[in-house]
Amino acid sequence: MTYNNLQIEEEGGILLLTIQREKALNALNQETMRELEHFFGEDAPGRDPLRGIILTGAGSKAFVAGADIKEFLDLDAEAGRRMAKHGQEVFFLIERFTRPVIAAVNGFALGGGCELAMACHLRIAGEHARFGQPEVNLGIIPGFGGTQRLIRYVGRTKGLELLLTGDMIDAQEAHRLGLVNAVVAPGKEVEAARTLLSKIAGKGPVAVAKVIEAVNAVFEDGTDGFSREVEAFGATTGTEDFKEGAAAFIAKRKPDFKGK
Ligand code: CAA
Repeated sequence: MTYNNLQIEEEGGILLLTIQREKALNALNQETMRELEHFFGEDAPGRDPLRGIILTGAGSKAFVAGADIKEFLDLDAEAGRRMAKHGQEVFFLIERFTRPVIAAVNGFALGGGCELAMACHLRIAGEHARFGQPEVNLGIIPGFGGTQRLIRYVGRTKGLELLLTGDMIDAQEAHRLGLVNAVVAPGKEVEAARTLLSKIAGKGPVAVAKVIEAVNAVFEDGTDGFSREVEAFGATTGTEDFKEGAAAFIAKRKPDFKGK
């Protein structure tokens, strides 16, 4: 697939994925959503070696300012349902991706942009970043998982306030609420995400994938997360990496994980 709205750069097994719609503050139009679907569903899973993905927005003003409002004019109830369902499916591909995906939030992360950042496993924000779910200002609600993930991250009290008022919060407040992992100087978001990913890249790849799977189970309706953990633990103890990790510990050397 040729991507019109995504730029992909690879360095040392880490992919930097940049949403390239700077003039529209990287708003997610349908074409970009289809491209993200293809990237996370078809393209990235087959890439090897791939230790992780950093997702950011072009320019220094916005990560993503939401779904593309200019495509909203023809929406009716049925088209709205289809749009939300598709958006949620695309963001599940990110949340369930087996390698860590870090959002480098380089400015506004609003509406679908905040939802996109929340679907990533970890978030690094620039000091100038702003987060919010302003959909109520448009007379709609978040449709790409925002009502669910925001509450899970910040709790019902603050989450409901943000969803009902549409207010934006700054990066420090997002950090205080547990929405982001770290706040860095503007322009340093990708570098900080790379440092974090490099640290994770030294760990056992199967273990990393299984941590993501087990943590996702916390929020899956009808899933017993403790049982999922038992299965995931068993899967990791059956790997060559586990033997290597234990042997390296005993020999007091660095493990050389193969992802098997
Ligand atoms: N969709 C389409 N275009 C957008 C956009 C969006 N979500 N956000 C910004 N843009 C465009 C603007 O229309 C403008 O384009 P033009 O130059 O062609 O007019 C350009 O980006 C720059 O934006 P502004 O002039 O508005 O910049 P600003 O500095 O004055 O304000 C802002 C920045 C506060 C982020 C403001 O642009 C804004 O409020 N954007 C909309 C945010 C929003 O409501 N997002 C939620 C969308 S709904 C959603 O996401 C639903 C869902 O859950 C799936």
